[in-house]
Amino acid sequence: MDKLQHITTIYLNDQHSLFAEELVKKLPEGLDQVYFTSSGSEANALASQFARLHTKNYSIMTLGNGYHGHGGSSYLTNMPSYSHDIPKTQGVELAPFPDMYRCPYPIDEAPQRYADQLKQNIEFSTSGNMALFMVEAVQGAGGIVPVPKEFMQKAIPHVRAAGGLLLSDEVQTAFGRMGTHYWGCEMLGYKPDILTMAKHIGNGFPLACVATTKEIAASYKKMTFSTYGSNPIAMAAGREVLKIVDEEGLQEKSRINAEYMHAGFKYLEDKYEQVGDVRGHGLMLGIEMVKDKESKIPNPELFTDVWERTKNYGLLLGKGGRGGNVFRIQPPMAIT
Ligand SMILES: Cc1ncc(COP(=O)(O)O)c(C=O)c1O
Repeated sequence: MDKLQHITTIYLNDQHSLFAEELVKKLPEGLDQVYFTSSGSEANALASQFARLHTKNYSIMTLGNGYHGHGGSSYLTNMPSYSHDIPKTQGVELAPFPDMYRCPYPIDEAPQRYADQLKQNIEFSTSGNMALFMVEAVQGAGGIVPVPKEFMQKAIPHVRAAGGLLLSDEVQTAFGRMGTHYWGCEMLGYKPDILTMAKHIGNGFPLACVATTKEIAASYKKMTFSTYGSNPIAMAAGREVLKIVDEEGLQEKSRINAEYMHAGFKYLEDKYEQVGDVRGHGLMLGIEMVKDKESKIPNPELFTDVWERTKNYGLLLGKGGRGGNVFRIQPPMAIT
């Protein structure tokens, strides 16, 4: 082996194993195996295979209004804006959308009612056996919709009774962005069997990850590989992200900055009839534009008008929600 190749090999091995070791230390208890991919979609597709192989069950449930990726993961996504006129892969069933804004139930009863609906969906659309229940703690593309903690508490026993594993899709909610917690699942008070990450894990580098337990990982008995999955530069970027989030106290900064912004957005909600709902956790905030507070009819025209103007002022905001009418405010965690 020539010298350059030798150095490259050492560097590659080094970055991969060091990052894996450092990441496992930050993961929720029990998750000690990591597998790197280059996108969140790839991570979720692989995670679904893990769950099916481990449980030997087929049915996967994902929440209405959830986004879990494109391509091989598009069948896990339940948003009209990303659905096409092609058949969805069999064995992926719809769990309810626990919507607290346009909620058909009395608000205090909603988590229980949505969990009852989930139980019914398991009964009617699966054999009674489940492989996986997949959740974003705060739905991102869906328009910054926090999944209620109480709903999870009531839904999880039904999933467990059907033999299902729990997957926390933390592509948007991880690494302290929630402010109060490092992981979204911790904020919802449950322990996932599988956790997927992408986006800020590499701070812009194509890097994503599936984390799980030794037992679940062991169920995947054949070889797999991802050409760019453990790219050494991306591994180095991942290591740096973990370090900087801690060293610069970005979780706490996110909490403080989010509180400040949330209060400002609430002021807008009180002041304007068309600002229907302000919601979110940490630096994942949403402002939903409606025709009026009573009807809650989405107002994509007004949204687009304001969106274009904020862009002209040099402020880039995200767009989301079923109606394309929700501002997604998810700035870098390093903002001041
Ligand atoms: C919650 C969630 N899961 C999965 C994905 C897919 O990740 P990627 O775009 O890296 O394939 C996204 C992307 O926006 C996401 O927000």
